[in-house]
Amino acid sequence: MTKSVDEVRADIPFLRTGIIYLDNAATTPTPEPVIEAMLSYYHEFSANVGRGLHRAAKRATEEFEAAREKVARVIGAKPDEIIFTKNTTEAINLVARGLGLKRDDKVITSLFEHHSNLLPWQRLERERGVKLEVVGSSRECLLNPAEFEAAIDRNTRLITTHHVSNAIGSVQPVEEIGKLARDYGVLYLVDAAQSVGHMPVDVRKIGCDFMAAPGHKGLLGPQGTGFLYAREDKISALEPLLTGGGIVEDVDLHSARLVDPPQIFDAGTPNIPGIIGLGRACEYVMDIGIDKIAEREMELTRRMLKIAENSRVEVYGPRGLERRGGVVSFNISGLSPHEVASMLDELAKIAVRSGHHCAQPTFRHLRINGTARASVHYFNLESEVEKFVELVGEIAKELGTL
Ligand code: ALA
Repeated sequence: MTKSVDEVRADIPFLRTGIIYLDNAATTPTPEPVIEAMLSYYHEFSANVGRGLHRAAKRATEEFEAAREKVARVIGAKPDEIIFTKNTTEAINLVARGLGLKRDDKVITSLFEHHSNLLPWQRLERERGVKLEVVGSSRECLLNPAEFEAAIDRNTRLITTHHVSNAIGSVQPVEEIGKLARDYGVLYLVDAAQSVGHMPVDVRKIGCDFMAAPGHKGLLGPQGTGFLYAREDKISALEPLLTGGGIVEDVDLHSARLVDPPQIFDAGTPNIPGIIGLGRACEYVMDIGIDKIAEREMELTRRMLKIAENSRVEVYGPRGLERRGGVVSFNISGLSPHEVASMLDELAKIAVRSGHHCAQPTFRHLRINGTARASVHYFNLESEVEKFVELVGEIAKELGTL
């Protein structure tokens, strides 16, 4: 069973506003079955998880834990390797805070990260004297495993990179970097914010120890949901960000015996409807077929890249489609990214994001202040992309400089 583009569009109420939504790298609209799953929690079993024996509490706990299994299936993991978070940022912070890194331990990351995979490491640098090395030199914002290899020394504990750049769209060689990390006995954390749900992602194939991802992007899940994959032999090494209720076996005044992972990471009442919605969203994208989503996004991206044929338009990132996700970052000469985004919205209800996309070092490297960024998902139409290409061309012709 698969789902056609028309069926998916019919499932997404937000698209009925007439918007041409090309801002999927920021967040994606929610399909009705995901909304219904959350509503059914509120309507039918609106109880807390892991704390009650009545039927509503049991059902809420079962559905919450079932979501762990569905998320695990999407990335080739085991349910006990999935920690729920509110977003990718929290998942990365959990690794940064939870690994117990100390003075002179080294973390290697790249120049092309989202701020959420830079600032948590900068904080460790400031607070604990951890050494942060940042590598990356390519104009296309592609990572070179050799640069990571050259940076590894005996103090290196962790390498962390994104999988697909939110700012530029480059697809990184995560399997090669994963192999390198294993060869040197270094941990590897992947920020999969722009890849999970958009393309097949398999944590075993990548060989990473940790993977951070959102629920509300490629997976079409609700905002306020995300997760951390932590490999089964590494999850116990992580100190939870929070401690408190809902995670204890036994508590005394000065000590407590806690439950095992992954439930040890669920202190306090979690986002129960959100996580149940996330589980439903995982089923939904698996029903479409993640390989089908990837194939379609690649075709839509091929069409979007036609804007580069105009000499007043500059597109950043790799030329080849095989090293690109469904993100096209561009500028029209003589116009600011915000002007371009506002015009696309005003003239044709086309939603793109503009600015530095929470990746300022990437844009300093490219010597620009930012870009306008169009990003697709499976539900986007060829005609929407054509409208976008046409309008970018018209704006460039009317207002762009040579
Ligand atoms: N990280 C999201 C983006 O790139 C918000 O737009």
